[in-house]
Amino acid sequence: MDTNVQKRRENKKSLRVKVISLGNAEVGKSCIIKRYCEKRFVPKYLATIGIDYGVTKVQVRDREIKVNIFDMAGHPFFYEVRNEFYKDSQGVVLVYDVGLRESFDALDNWLGEMKQEMGSQANMESIVFVVCANKVDLTKRRVVDEGEGRLWAESRGFHYFETSAQSGEGIGEMFQAFFSSITDMCENGGKRPVAEVSVGFTKEQADTIRRIRNSKDSWDMLGVKPGATREEVNKAYRKLAVLLHPDKCVAPGSEDAFKAVVNARTSLLKNIK
Ligand code: GTP
Ligand code: MG
Repeated sequence: MDTNVQKRRENKKSLRVKVISLGNAEVGKSCIIKRYCEKRFVPKYLATIGIDYGVTKVQVRDREIKVNIFDMAGHPFFYEVRNEFYKDSQGVVLVYDVGLRESFDALDNWLGEMKQEMGSQANMESIVFVVCANKVDLTKRRVVDEGEGRLWAESRGFHYFETSAQSGEGIGEMFQAFFSSITDMCENGGKRPVAEVSVGFTKEQADTIRRIRNSKDSWDMLGVKPGATREEVNKAYRKLAVLLHPDKCVAPGSEDAFKAVVNARTSLLKNIK
């Protein structure tokens, strides 16, 4: 066969991608990568200094994928080193520790930092995101449950996996789905395939459930000012009930959020004349 034709065929089958890891310091980013690439776990914390770089090869269907992994340091101190490396990523592994709520809350900031550093070329639709709810082996200290994590991820069209770098749980499945989606995206002209982001609920529903979970009191939960009238409370309640009624909303946590809203309205109306 003509060597050029052969080369072109081989090129079509092989693919080069860049992926990065993001998340607060000490959530387990490096350990997740190590578990996958080296099949081992290191219990001692060795903070990543700036960036760690590695290459691995994976097979997705008939394609060989050469993956360049940039494992970022989560500590704010390394911002100046990190910010260079966001550009041209096809995949992002976002990690939080299920035992540390602040690491979960920080995911929005990580997305913010990434968007800011990518500037005008930021096209989040051309990047595959996978969220790792890590350290699920430490069940007793868990504070962020699966519903909450899944909701945050899936409402944004991101994959969600429960992982433990210590036991290996979820790690293989997570990377397999991640690389397979990146390959699909590359074959789809660089756009994240739509099918996988269709989760059956809206971002408004997901955001509302999250807001309700984090509300500080019943007024806050219904989104009315303290001292609001019965009419205002009922109006706010009706709006939320339509949005979150379990018959209409399949988002994880909608049933609990709906119940919380019903209870908030009942308790407020008891005290309003
Ligand atoms: P930075 O590089 O500072 O951003 O941290 P990192 O996110 O890379 O964290 P790293 O992978 O170094 O892990 C931090 C600590 O958590 C280490 O002591 C790990 O042994 C521990 N750890 C990581 N993953 C797990 C896990 O799944 N379960 C448990 N029990 N410990 C974990
Ligand atoms: Mg690290």
